Amino acid sequence: MRSLIDITDFSVAELDALLQTACDISEHPEKYWDACAHKKLATLFFEPSTRTRLSFEAAMLELGGSVLGFSEAGSSSAAKGESVADTAKTVSNYADIIAMRHPKEGAPYVASKAATVPVINAGDGGHCHPTQTLADLLTIYRENGRLHDLTIGCCGDLKYGRTVHSLLAAMTRYENIKIVLISPEELQLPGYMKYEVLEKNGMSYVETTSLEEAIPELDVLYMTRIQRERFDDPAVYERLKDSYILTVDKLKDAKADMRILHPLPRVNEISVKVDNDPRAAYFRQALNGKYMRMALILKLLDEAAKGAQMEEEQNVVVNELRCENPRCITSTEQELDHTFKCVDAEKGIYRCIYCEAKKQKN
Ligand code: CP
Repeated sequence: MRSLIDITDFSVAELDALLQTACDISEHPEKYWDACAHKKLATLFFEPSTRTRLSFEAAMLELGGSVLGFSEAGSSSAAKGESVADTAKTVSNYADIIAMRHPKEGAPYVASKAATVPVINAGDGGHCHPTQTLADLLTIYRENGRLHDLTIGCCGDLKYGRTVHSLLAAMTRYENIKIVLISPEELQLPGYMKYEVLEKNGMSYVETTSLEEAIPELDVLYMTRIQRERFDDPAVYERLKDSYILTVDKLKDAKADMRILHPLPRVNEISVKVDNDPRAAYFRQALNGKYMRMALILKLLDEAAKGAQMEEEQNVVVNELRCENPRCITSTEQELDHTFKCVDAEKGIYRCIYCEAKKQKN
């Protein structure tokens, strides 16, 4: 069954086709009113959400389908200890497609292996958020007019910011993209993202702590929230939470056609006064998320009808290594196989298939 777990599950051609479908939906919504008649989307949200869950639900309703699901783990049988796999198998009996958000990294992947319907990763811990990236790509395409020849600044929590991780993975596929990573030292992009996603794909990037210094060269400024829920130590969150606040004053040095994106929700990293600036694209970005999720639902249901399958993972070892990432789904679901994929045979480097934590194997 074809699912969307990571943005790189889709080729550039597939991403381009989704962008074209989303544009057509926004211009001719009436063409799609019955496209998913009698189909059901289950939204299984084990973590809070406004945009992702409601835009998925609006997307399915506007395609003529129906929605069911839950918006917190406490109102599902997860509260009684039911596993992600059992939940996915059960819900496959009631729905044609599943969108899942979960605090544990790799949970939607586990669901996709157990479900008999397509599963969409709607955000897994600090790992990735591919449908936010779909919204981001459509926004950059519409606002900047291209997905190539861009300097993109990512600002804020780059360590736990799953939206940034997925966006960077997607942008490696486009020509002449320069990345400026703007974060406090403690919240820098993880090493595996820098070396295995950016450097291996020949992507040019610089790191800085200064938003003011970076802003004049940017075509896109991607602001992110410092996420209270990802910190083990509240004192560290308190120290870092106001690291970056985008104000009208700071925008004076920005290009006239720069666009400001933010996956939202914001806390106070963008002053509300910036909302009136035509460069502020974040609420249009939230609308684009609905169009892209409509296009995605259409694609995955169409592929399910044709019997499309996910590619099997290659070069894996099962239960020879153990994942020690406390945020990995293997930390709570004890019966899952600890499965690692070889990413560098010469150096013996392996990555957990659920959360991408690194292990050395001799
Ligand atoms: N961007 C995003 O994921 O927002 P929500 O948490 O409100 O879904």
